[in-house]
This record gives sequence, C-alpha cells and structure tokens, in this order.
Amino acid sequence: MVLMNGRVVLVTGSTYGIGKATALELARKGATVLLHGRNPEKGEAVLRDLCRITGSDRLHLHIADFSSQDQVRRLAAQIREEHDRLHLLINNAGTFEPERKMRHKNQAAPGGFWRLSW
Ligand SMILES: NC(=O)c1ccc[n+]([C@@H]2O[C@H](COP(=O)([O-])OP(=O)(O)OC[C@H]3O[C@@H](n4cnc5c(N)ncnc54)[C@H](OP(=O)(O)O)[C@@H]3O)[C@@H](O)[C@H]2O)c1
Repeated sequence: MVLMNGRVVLVTGSTYGIGKATALELARKGATVLLHGRNPEKGEAVLRDLCRITGSDRLHLHIADFSSQDQVRRLAAQIREEHDRLHLLINNAGTFEPERKMRHKNQAAPGGFWRLSW
C-alpha cells in the first residue's frame, strides 16, 4: 500500500461524489487532505464525517465558488499561507454548462469547465 504521510493534498469538489471518495482514500493513507466545496454547512458535515471514518486529524475544509475568479484567488492565497507546500492538486470540481452565464463580476471562465489554477 502506498502511504501518503506528510503529503499535503487538495481535492477540489470533495464534499460530494468522486471528490469525496478520493479525499476519503487519501486521508486513510495518511495524507493531510484539504477538502473543498462551495457550501460551508455541507462542507462542515463532510469534514466531521471523514474525520470520524478515518480517525484523521489532518483534514481541513476550504470554501470557494470557482465561478468567481476572486474566490479562486482567495483560496489559493489561503492555502499558500497555511501550508508550506502542496504536493498534489486533484482538480476534481468542474461543471459543464452549454450556455454562458455571468453570475459574478470576475467570473473564472465563460461557462464550461472551471479549474483552480495557480
Ligand atoms: N459523475 C459522473 O458520472 C461524471 C462523469 C464525467 C465527469 N465527471 C466529472 O467528475 C467530477 C466530479 O463529479 P461528481 O459527479 O462526483 O460530482 P459533482 O456533482 O460534479 O461535483 C460536486 C463537487 O463539486 C463542487 N462544485 C460544484 N460546482 C462548483 C463550483 N462552481 N465551484 C466550486 N466547487 C463546485 C461541489 O461543491 P458543493 O457540494 O459545495 O456544491 C461538490 O464538492 C466533476 O468534474 C464532473 O464533471 C463526473
């Protein structure tokens, strides 16, 4: 089994589905896992859940809506401030929308697929 002790991993979109399952397995392998989602209440519930299941105290929650470039940048700055290095970034959060939508002034991308980039 590959161990991830000492590794810092960010899994975007880890409050649900594939991202949550990925975060769970990485935490089980000993990684420090930075969970991410948009909804703080949902995120807190998932954080509690994964801490309980894995017994790990190396899980952290970050909130950002990637349809806002400001929030993407804020998240990146926060993670840089809180961690010396990021060993692994799993760009899981994404969505496909056929129509262009402008929900925020500084939207990250014209609809389509959003990703965290730094
Ligand atoms: N499931 C499939 O069959 C399938 C097939 C092909 C590709 N994919 C891709 O695999 C990835 C995961 O899919 P999934 O079905 O497991 O889950 P999903 O429903 O696509 O994603 C859920 C996660 O993404 C976060 N998220 C959604 N929109 C976001 C936004 N605008 N900004 C920041 N975070 C956002 C959610 O946060 P909140 O909970 O806070 O909303 C949640 O943590 C996605 O990129 C999806 O496109 C999935």
